Amino acid sequence: MEGLDQVTPVLLLSVGAAVLGSLQFGYNTGVINAPQETIEGFYNDTWLWRYQEHIPPSSLTALWSLSVAIFPIGGMLGSSSVGMFVNRFGRKNSMLASNLLAVVSALLMGLSHVCGSFEMLIVGRCVVGVFCGLCTGFVPMYVEEISPTPLRGALGTLHQLGVVLGILLAQVLGVEWVLGGSSLWPLLLAFPVVPAVLQCALLPLCPESPRHLYIICSKETEAHEALVRLRGTEQVSEDLQEMREESRRMQREQTVSIPELLRAPQYRHPLMVSVVMQLSQQLSGINAVFYYSTGIFQRAGVAQPVYATIGAGVVNTVFTIVSLFVVERMGRRPLHLIGLMGMAVSAVFLTVAMALTDQLSWMSYVSIAAIFSFVAFFEIGPGPIPWFIVAELFSQGPRPSAMAVAGFSNWSANFLVGMCFQYVEKLCGPYVFIIFSVLLLFFFTFTFFKVPETKGRSFEEISAGFRSRGSDKYSSAEEFNSLQGEEPL
Ligand code: GLC
Repeated sequence: MEGLDQVTPVLLLSVGAAVLGSLQFGYNTGVINAPQETIEGFYNDTWLWRYQEHIPPSSLTALWSLSVAIFPIGGMLGSSSVGMFVNRFGRKNSMLASNLLAVVSALLMGLSHVCGSFEMLIVGRCVVGVFCGLCTGFVPMYVEEISPTPLRGALGTLHQLGVVLGILLAQVLGVEWVLGGSSLWPLLLAFPVVPAVLQCALLPLCPESPRHLYIICSKETEAHEALVRLRGTEQVSEDLQEMREESRRMQREQTVSIPELLRAPQYRHPLMVSVVMQLSQQLSGINAVFYYSTGIFQRAGVAQPVYATIGAGVVNTVFTIVSLFVVERMGRRPLHLIGLMGMAVSAVFLTVAMALTDQLSWMSYVSIAAIFSFVAFFEIGPGPIPWFIVAELFSQGPRPSAMAVAGFSNWSANFLVGMCFQYVEKLCGPYVFIIFSVLLLFFFTFTFFKVPETKGRSFEEISAGFRSRGSDKYSSAEEFNSLQGEEPL
């Protein structure tokens, strides 16, 4: 892989410390899947103690849906506030301070049992959602800004690796005989305090983003020092030159607010690409799997659904690692396209298998294989790429606002799937995944025609590509790529 000599211990430490935030996001996404019945038991006991009657099933369903879906609502709030913090306090300090939310939410959820209050658990899920929403903006931004250009995609994928490891950790710890049982589940929900403390211990050892220091704070000497630490060499003139150019443009461009970003014609194409990429990630149906896989496997006739869920977590992790190694070689566009098409085909197989489960019992194996390949193709492209491509598509001025808008779109679509999947599944039965197939084909077509390749290009070159297309119409991917002197894909 080109640029491997630029991997230094400080760069690894900084990326590693930052992606602990991604791990938090994954952990809290996956943590409510396995212990659902146990925690519902606590809701019932609390109800019984308060009102001397069992909780009515409809109230239990409503309370559980709220406990699941309030997390992405918190995420929407957090992700749309990213811009308020990153320029004022810096990337590193924003990450550091946000850990306070992780600790507060861990206390709320961890103590909900002893306090006999499911309200505390629900509020805790909301607070941890805000925290994770902030993480999905802070982490990719920091990682992209400190990475050398040839490694931006690979290091950006580490955000997603943190997410998938977090999901897997939650799935494993959530097994009944680990922490998912009726006495230990409060510890399962309070666990995020561990990565929070670890991140607070590590971040102070890491440099602030040199781009933030130079372009936003005009601190050239500090930016230079941070770069020297990150690159492990005094030869940082190329990075500095790139920042200088970006800074010069910033003098004219200034920081762009969200309303300005939405209005300005020159940002229309990159913004549209960013938002649709986020939608392609969430409306692919991936979180139907990660929120509800245990139930899906059960209905598909799988005997040990919790272990099949863990299997999905393992496949998820393995293929994120595959993507990490190929993203700089193959580029963003082909991987995203392969991933979307592979998911669409897997969803068709899953539908056929689920529809035939009653007639052919071995179809349950086809269902497992189809879900595993659905997840594998997701991690090849649609999982990692949308998270870091937004930071690549925008220069320093509009970047924080763009990340906020993209993050908000991502979390809204996440909420939509989390909230509606069970209802739509009731309506469509085994055919529910066909909806995702259709959406995936739409996103494939969009990516083919509109998403440019950003591999190996400096931030400045990428925004120049968009600028030179004129302001009021967006270019096709083909035009963009040829403008950059590269063969269109
Ligand atoms: C991405 C998505 C997240 C999903 C995860 C699965 O990070 O943003 O919602 O749960 O991938 O690996």
